[in-house]
Amino acid sequence: MDEILTIGSSKAAPRKLHVITWGCQMNAYDSARMEDVLAPLGYAPVDAPEGADMIILNTCHIRERAAEKLFSKLGRLREMKQAMDGRMMIVVAGCVAQAEGAEIIRRAPYVDVVVGPQAYHRLPELIAQAHRKTGAAIDTDFPAEPKFDFLPNRVAPQGVVSYLTIQEGCDKFCSFCVVPYTRGAEASRPAASVIAEASRMIAGGAREIALLGQNVNAYHGDGLRSGETWDLTRLLHALAEIPGVERLRYTTSHPRDMTDGLIAAHGEIPQLLPFLHLPVQSGSDRILAAMNRKHDVADFHRIIDRLRAVRPDIAFSSDFIVGHPGESDADFAATMALVRQTNFAMAYSFTYSPRPGTPAAGAANQVPKATMDARLQELQALLRLQQDEFNSAQIGRTMPVLFTNPGRHPGQIMGRSPYLQPVVVTGPADLIGRVETVTIDLANTNSLLGTLKQECVAA
Ligand code: SAH
Ligand code: SF4
Ligand code: F3S
Repeated sequence: MDEILTIGSSKAAPRKLHVITWGCQMNAYDSARMEDVLAPLGYAPVDAPEGADMIILNTCHIRERAAEKLFSKLGRLREMKQAMDGRMMIVVAGCVAQAEGAEIIRRAPYVDVVVGPQAYHRLPELIAQAHRKTGAAIDTDFPAEPKFDFLPNRVAPQGVVSYLTIQEGCDKFCSFCVVPYTRGAEASRPAASVIAEASRMIAGGAREIALLGQNVNAYHGDGLRSGETWDLTRLLHALAEIPGVERLRYTTSHPRDMTDGLIAAHGEIPQLLPFLHLPVQSGSDRILAAMNRKHDVADFHRIIDRLRAVRPDIAFSSDFIVGHPGESDADFAATMALVRQTNFAMAYSFTYSPRPGTPAAGAANQVPKATMDARLQELQALLRLQQDEFNSAQIGRTMPVLFTNPGRHPGQIMGRSPYLQPVVVTGPADLIGRVETVTIDLANTNSLLGTLKQECVAA
């Protein structure tokens, strides 16, 4: 038997595991799952890299400098490893591992394991392999077996807001995006396994469940009865039935998969938050076509209008890319027009970054960097204005706030509005885990200040 598999005996001192996570929430979820898979081998998470027996770097490849960021971090870890006479195992996971596996080993031969996002359930085997051999162990296959069927159940509860990956991968192949290459084809977890995990989360203290997926609204998992396939609408209805589920949301959605049923669900499921992140990327039909987004501007406006009709208090956030190859001044002006027309509560925006192996990276009509930067500034100024207006509009409003953790100052408690804005109030610590009514007194760019309704202070 491999040496590594005997480490978990109760006598052994725990081995220190330090996980560094970059990228999206799905990476954060995966990092926790890697901790779970290593716990039976005797690894316990620690906060600092110094003196750790194992470091896992969970990487992101979505925009430029991802690889450079990794190699500079690896350089620093190498020094720590040398200081420990090599007794520190270095694992590179995530989307850069998937995309650049062999290159990582070539440039950083002191890395022990390279593992792609679909192979985390194989970590114990890879670690054992790395212990046995002098070279690194690499696994960047897309295994036939879905990793979630092979990972252990979550060990530690995540807290009042818990994230649950229900779907991974993407078949959409937008011109600019690496995700279909790093995460592989779209795959959904069976509804039974999602419901079981959600129930465990609620039992562990969760009150809000955020469903995660690269294309979460393309979810199509096995239903509870054999032969049945459930879509996201059906799954949301089932999750809303679990006692204790106070809030539900899902991210990230693609406009193409906003079905009639899902739009209607926003008017039917009270726990579904009135907030939706719906990336549109551009407001120009020409650029949307070049991006291979498979929807146009009119489709987007139609979706927004219909959601507002069924849930009048709904607010939106989105993602934008400026400077996709071929984007003209007129195309960019169309993006600004879409933003003005929609009015976002918040949004993320980026300059286009050519990703190796994607179709747009090879396009001839790249936009000069200075043009991209100027457009980004203009767009961000407008988005900031809309965000400030949205936050200020909350002043004087009374809203349900889910309390999540202590605030920075004594006596303060932090929570989230239905629009995910951080809300700070003065109140007792036992508010945590409860939804209470708050009147908003003050709005900053990134948070709101409020007063608890009198009864809950007394309670
Ligand atoms: N699945 C989601 C997006 C996941 S990536 C969707 O389809 O909308 C998160 C965001 O990163 C994207 O929405 C996009 O705005 C941005 N992004 C992705 N690739 C990029 C690139 N090559 N350059 C700049 N931004 C990019
Ligand atoms: Fe990337 Fe497009 Fe898939 Fe989103 S839908 S993950 S942007 S390819
Ligand atoms: Fe990054 Fe991979 Fe997530 S590229 S955004 S970590 S899916």
